[in-house]
Amino acid sequence: MVNRRRHSIATNPLYFAPPFAGLVVPTVAALFTFTILANHSAEYPRGCLSPSSFESLWGYTRDANNNLVYKYGHERIPDNYYKSAIEDQWTVPDILTGFAQNCLSYPSDCEVGGNLGTVNSFTGVNLGDISGGLINSPADFTNTTLLGCFISQSLQAEAPTFLSNVFSGVLLTQVLGLITSLLVPTLQKFQLDALITCPSLPKGKGIFDANSKYPGARFLSQGPRNPF
Ligand SMILES: *[C@@H]1O[C@H](CO)[C@@H](O)[C@H](O)[C@H]1NC(C)=O
Repeated sequence: MVNRRRHSIATNPLYFAPPFAGLVVPTVAALFTFTILANHSAEYPRGCLSPSSFESLWGYTRDANNNLVYKYGHERIPDNYYKSAIEDQWTVPDILTGFAQNCLSYPSDCEVGGNLGTVNSFTGVNLGDISGGLINSPADFTNTTLLGCFISQSLQAEAPTFLSNVFSGVLLTQVLGLITSLLVPTLQKFQLDALITCPSLPKGKGIFDANSKYPGARFLSQGPRNPF
């Protein structure tokens, strides 16, 4: 994560790391790899992910020189492979704890912000401003309660901008209504699962804006698409 981020900052003038897609998703995706794919055998009830198990899942083996060899269609569940015990599931509090631990170990992973149109110009977003004072520094993300409330807040803050870039007119009004009828209750359930409550959560501010000082946070509605 740290290296990928450094690479993006050094090579992509438009690099932008928003709260959810830029911080939470990449960290949790990295945690998923071990948590979901590890082999939970009797010997390793908390899970063990060996390189050969990992490679087998994606259809890779090693040749005599130890180079990776991919064989199309040979992705498979490794031999003697066990999923985690039902009473040891990976749930929302584990996700938040994993994310908080990563912020504690690698604070630069948890900076919201981006390059200003040139490489190596990473500038952080003022967290206090976008979170209405809920979060004031990346160190606050090591508190799982504040973190959970911030995720909930930022999803609600970003939803209207994202939706208005895709929908318009009556349809937009309808989908915006879904924020209250669907998104907010879902986020409340997420808070309950995480055993946190966010009383008097201040209103967050979306950071995607056509006039953003971060070119990577400006929406384009026409022009060529990035091939990725
Ligand atoms: C986390 O933040 C909450 C809300 O501000 C606070 O009540 C709690 O004491 C904090 N927890 C820790 C471990 O600092």
